Amino acid sequence: MSTISIIGTGGMAAAIGGLAAKAGHTVEVTSRDAVKARTLAAQIGAGATTGAFGAAPAGDIVILAVPYSAVLDVVKQYGEGLAGKVLVDITNPVASDHTSFVTPGDSFGAKEITKAAPADA
Ligand SMILES: NC(=O)c1ccc[n+]([C@@H]2O[C@H](COP(=O)([O-])OP(=O)(O)OC[C@H]3O[C@@H](n4cnc5c(N)ncnc54)[C@H](OP(=O)(O)O)[C@@H]3O)[C@@H](O)[C@H]2O)c1
Repeated sequence: MSTISIIGTGGMAAAIGGLAAKAGHTVEVTSRDAVKARTLAAQIGAGATTGAFGAAPAGDIVILAVPYSAVLDVVKQYGEGLAGKVLVDITNPVASDHTSFVTPGDSFGAKEITKAAPADA
């Protein structure tokens, strides 16, 4: 089993965290709001823990469960703390009217995240 860290405490973090714990993985929740992180960890149960936002996550797998508009800054804030981690991008880099992508025409969300993350993430 793996240790999976989730950045964010919204609907997707709750859904993925719950399923990961149910499957027997260890879950760590981190958020810019420590109270929300503790609340979600308690909701997930199964020994889920919380980590300090911006500090190196405990998990080797890190789910980026924040809006695309925030994810590049979040990844930069974690910086070398994400070195060697498997980053899972679930973001939807689309405009609010859902008619276009917000990424450069020759790129895509995960590619932009890769550029912001440590080289070996
Ligand atoms: N791939 C898929 O099938 C799928 C489906 C649905 C959603 N998504 C994507 O999954 C991601 C999360 O969706 P969601 O529905 O869980 O969203 P949500 O309920 O709005 O939760 C967003 C989370 O991101 C945090 N956040 C927002 N801005 C932040 C910032 N600048 N710095 C740090 N944390 C920030 C929020 O923290 P606060 O509570 O403190 O604001 C919250 O914990 C989004 O990118 C969404 O597009 C993907």
